[in-house]
Amino acid sequence: MDEPRGRVTRDGIRIHERADFAGMHKAGALAARILDEMADHVFPGQTTAELDRMIEEKVVAAGAKSATIGYRGYQHASCISVNHVVCHGIPGNKIPKWKNDPHRRTDDALKDGDILNIDVTVIVDGWHGDTSRMYVAGKPKAYAERLIQVTHDALMTGIAAVKPGNTFGDIGHAIQSFVEGHRMSVVRDFCGHGLGRVFHSPPNVLHYGRAGTGPVLEEGMFFTIEPMVNLGRPETKVLADDWTAITRDKALSAQFEHSVGVSADGAEIFTLSPAGRFHPTWT
Ligand code: MF3
Ligand code: CO
Ligand code: CO
Repeated sequence: MDEPRGRVTRDGIRIHERADFAGMHKAGALAARILDEMADHVFPGQTTAELDRMIEEKVVAAGAKSATIGYRGYQHASCISVNHVVCHGIPGNKIPKWKNDPHRRTDDALKDGDILNIDVTVIVDGWHGDTSRMYVAGKPKAYAERLIQVTHDALMTGIAAVKPGNTFGDIGHAIQSFVEGHRMSVVRDFCGHGLGRVFHSPPNVLHYGRAGTGPVLEEGMFFTIEPMVNLGRPETKVLADDWTAITRDKALSAQFEHSVGVSADGAEIFTLSPAGRFHPTWT
């Protein structure tokens, strides 16, 4: 790999050069195209294992690399988080809501009305493209559709706060006040992250916080914004598999994620959907 160009701020945040944006656009576009192509494969009866298999096949077919396979022992090309799973759901492992759920399934098939986040990170020419969006198997319940809409709009509200001179606290504050204004809650236990030639780097991009706090945004910073929003309380817990995070109260959770770069006067979104299918994915 080439020596990285650019400099690093005192908060450890890499400042990239203009030429680096092109690499991020290429990686981001592939991740987004793969998510576009998954939309028609989400339906009742489909399994999350099969969705992941298709994703891995598409990554390989594009001549790219999955950033998640082999990452801290993770073995899949995607995270698929169904219903009350907040993030890092393991494909092939749909989690029943209650241990004694009479409808507990022995397979991972989706059922009508299930909502799911699919999160894909690819590496193209050394650059990382990291994005996730929401899907529905069959017909969404009205309250689930509301949650998904608010989560999408929360991400976009956060991105609207991205410009040189604003702070990371401004992004978190914009997201939190928007979400809580809709009487939903923002997950505190997981955050966005810097990325580029590295998958996860400084800063932690919190989806809550106070305006004017945190590092100041500078042109050339690359990071994700990936708010997780719950219909109930914000608390989460990680299951014994050490990955799957669920809501403690078992209420529904949703998430959207874009990879962005700070431009001279705003944000460049690297993971825009080529098909215009970021949200909604099911119509
Ligand atoms: N793509 C996730 C993120 O948004 C990270 C997944 S790491 C994995 O940062 F190992 F769980 F895949
Ligand atoms: Co991410
Ligand atoms: Co991700």
